[in-house]
Amino acid sequence: MLKIQIQKSTLKSVKDHTLIIPLYQQGAKPELPKNGAFLRPILDKLVKDKVFKADFKEVTYLRFIKAGQSQNVLFVGLGKKKDFTLSRLREALINASAYLGKSKVPSFSFHLSSVAWSGKRSFSEVAQAATESLVLPLYKFTKFKKDEGSLTQDQSSGIKSVTLAVDSPEEVLEGKRGLSKAKIFIDACNLVRDLVNTPHNAMRAPDLAQAAQDVAKAVGLKCTVFTEKELHKEGFGALLAVNQGSDIPPRFVILEHNAEKKNLDTVCLVGKGITFDSGGISLKPADSMETMKDDMAGSATVLGIMEIVAKLNLPLHVVGFMAITNNMPSGKATVPGDIVKSYLGKTIEILNTDAEGRLVLADAVAYADKHYKPSLLIDFATLTGACVIALGEAGAGVMGTAQKAIDRLKELSCLTGDKIWQLPLWEEYREELKSDIADIKNIGNTRGAGSSKGGMFIQAFINDKTPWVHFDIAGSAFITRPTHRYTPKGATAACVRLVAEFLIQWDTSVTELA
Ligand code: BES
Ligand code: ZN
Ligand code: ZN
Repeated sequence: MLKIQIQKSTLKSVKDHTLIIPLYQQGAKPELPKNGAFLRPILDKLVKDKVFKADFKEVTYLRFIKAGQSQNVLFVGLGKKKDFTLSRLREALINASAYLGKSKVPSFSFHLSSVAWSGKRSFSEVAQAATESLVLPLYKFTKFKKDEGSLTQDQSSGIKSVTLAVDSPEEVLEGKRGLSKAKIFIDACNLVRDLVNTPHNAMRAPDLAQAAQDVAKAVGLKCTVFTEKELHKEGFGALLAVNQGSDIPPRFVILEHNAEKKNLDTVCLVGKGITFDSGGISLKPADSMETMKDDMAGSATVLGIMEIVAKLNLPLHVVGFMAITNNMPSGKATVPGDIVKSYLGKTIEILNTDAEGRLVLADAVAYADKHYKPSLLIDFATLTGACVIALGEAGAGVMGTAQKAIDRLKELSCLTGDKIWQLPLWEEYREELKSDIADIKNIGNTRGAGSSKGGMFIQAFINDKTPWVHFDIAGSAFITRPTHRYTPKGATAACVRLVAEFLIQWDTSVTELA
């Protein structure tokens, strides 16, 4: 298991297999860091040979040179000091970490004090950003590899320890705060990535609900699980319609933090939990259907955020909901044209069984809204292929009625590196969801603006007065090529750190409706 720590040691005295040294650029050359005079001959040679000039994100790995106490050194360029921001530090360190992950080093240290940054951000924030960007890219999903895998543990490319090296005891103290927050974020991201990467035959609805119960027990969340019987009794008609073709029973999980403290603001987090989306009777094409094991990423995201909320004991009443089933065709499956009655009482004409996420969410958000009357309701869903077409795999689509919350999330997105882009909820789209014979239908008449229509379908099951934000993570939750900077191919844990940070920095004014 990867050890993440902070230690006092100057640049020259760091003893580790590999030392990462961040370097600013001055003119067209690396600037010598504090106490870094001993590096001058090496750096001069690298400049002379046109190998390294500390350009932003540039990395050079030198093996067996023994600079100071360390055998190997990785120089990472931070570019010009005046351009420095936390996100640039993140970008540069992601490169360094990915490089070392591939080089299979056993351990490395990063000399954090050499970043020597006196900006608006605290040292603790710099330590957090550094830790996250060094450790998150090392993730590997090895659970199903005979020789490497032990459930959730070897997630770090075989690297045994990552150390932040700092000059002074004060920096150790300050840095520790950022480091422990980063560890909590990393653990939650790895939990989400493991759940989402796990294939359907090992992650059926009862398995995902069990995973939620295990997390709840470990971190002290109240946890309630509805089985099929309770869902029938409560009237989750839309969720049950999706489950109807399945041989595996559905689950609805409620996780609650600060359940007894009624004076705190309430935030509800609701997640789509389709453990496999075949499309149902509106069957998907075979091409890359296997990635539809990721269709429970919304639920996993909720669980990851709830874990962080509990570990940090945030002064908020946060309730998480996971609406879980697979979506399968069979002789008893829902067929196009069927009309079902949702939890809210509205009837839905299901014209395409592949638009199932919005069905399970319709019941889940209505339940959350009715029983918890939240100050803010946020839902997460791998909802539409249209979102992948619009934004690719680089970021999530976001929409909703809580514009202040969305603005805040956009600001924090720059801080955490979790990209989001707002899409509109224009009235023109709503028209298309009108059904001739039911209260609403689950697809529009035309193909355009699919993500907005998906969002607006969910909106129809939430009270107008409840501020709401919807994340469409269809593209960003799972990447099919290794292009995402924080993660290899597969599950990314998109939006987990972003929304956790949003809750940490909670301010009641974000719940104002425009
Ligand atoms: N789970 C899919 C959306 C999806 C697509 C997620 C690609 C990740 C990658 C969702 O249930 C779906 O199939 N949506 C349909 C909706 C349509 C029928 C209105 C879609 O986007 O094609
Ligand atoms: Zn679908
Ligand atoms: Zn789906």
